[in-house]
Amino acid sequence: MSNPSLLILPGDGIGPEVMAQVRRIITWYGDKRGLAFDVSEDLVGGAAYDKHGVPLADETMAKAQEADAVLLGAVGGPAYDDLDFSVKPERGLLRLRKEMDLFSNLRPAQCFDALADFSSLKKDIVAGLDIMIVRELTSGVYFGEPRGIFEEGNERVGINTQRYTESEIERAARSAFELAMRRGKKVCSMEKANVMESGILWREVATRVGKEYPEVELSHMYADNGAMQLVRAPKQFDVILTDNLFGDILSDCAAMLTGSLGMLPSASLGAPMANGRPKALYEPVHGSAPDITGQGKANPIACILSFAMALRYSFDQGSEADRLETAVEQVLADGVRTADLLGEEGVTPVSTSEMGDAILAALDASL
Ligand code: NAD
Ligand code: IPM
Ligand code: MN
Repeated sequence: MSNPSLLILPGDGIGPEVMAQVRRIITWYGDKRGLAFDVSEDLVGGAAYDKHGVPLADETMAKAQEADAVLLGAVGGPAYDDLDFSVKPERGLLRLRKEMDLFSNLRPAQCFDALADFSSLKKDIVAGLDIMIVRELTSGVYFGEPRGIFEEGNERVGINTQRYTESEIERAARSAFELAMRRGKKVCSMEKANVMESGILWREVATRVGKEYPEVELSHMYADNGAMQLVRAPKQFDVILTDNLFGDILSDCAAMLTGSLGMLPSASLGAPMANGRPKALYEPVHGSAPDITGQGKANPIACILSFAMALRYSFDQGSEADRLETAVEQVLADGVRTADLLGEEGVTPVSTSEMGDAILAALDASL
């Protein structure tokens, strides 16, 4: 049998910097654990625009459809701010999500013990935190029609449409309940049913799907209250189910509970392929971080933990995913810190590649 295929799309800004560390870890798994992947690399975002005039070439899209999993760094950056909307780097990522039909975006927020002091919240509020945000990723206001900027009388109007079908809500909800069954058996669904019809339907469908999972406790919360509760008492949550836009915002908010946006991985999963595994793209939650690009300061952990999620969700290698997550935990416990994680006096930050060195050493020590 051939090796599983991995398509790597480093993208822009710190994307290639953090992905370089992931590539070392992929090589380590091939050398030391006999887990070889057929790795290919391609362009996305501004890097693809520079070469092809579009943020995702059709050939790259086709490769992504064929791959067993896609790993993406980040897209975007100030150099591309003035591009026409249709070719902005972010459109490349959105095309991947839409055409691969990656409807379920898993964004775990876990606070490693060693970092409980780094959150902007008090230590006892975040210590031991382990929540999972399930963000619907292929619909809602990100994709709804009509959309655009139109002339209306003597001024312009910008329009986006929040739109959800029952089946779109249902499949996202089902993935949240399935996850909850393997975790703390609680789902909190967040919408704004008080002001949005799509929210009313969301609540109704989530409730209906929930009846199939009698062991899971389902609660509902307005998303604005949810944002407040996430910073007030985040440990009340197990799985949070929410739509595309609320999920985008709530997951950045959850990032700070873990100490840094540089820590948060994600998995975007679709329907099962012929081999039974879901179509999947893995990427850090953070962006291209133009303010620190090219300085060796980027924290590669979010991208590395995204590869751990790939091991778990695409390659059935849960214990190897545990090994990688434990190596990261060990390195943090040893006090190794990139600049985004500084807080303690007298600690000198390590560079992106030194963080990679430390994680590889911890992996070696795990053998
Ligand atoms: P960002 O996530 O790029 O940066 C926000 C802040 O967090 C910055 O101060 C940055 O230095 C810091 N940061 C982020 N990741 C870090 C890491 N790994 N290590 C250390 N510090 C880190 O968000 P932004 O500044 O709002 O957006 C910049 C660009 O990235 C925009 O073009 C945006 O559209 C794009 N973006 C892309 C993605 C993606 O590719 N999935 C996600 C978010 C934003
Ligand atoms: C994210 C990002 C993306 C989003 C952008 C870059 C399209 O913010 O993955 O969180 O809004 O979904
Ligand atoms: Mn975001």
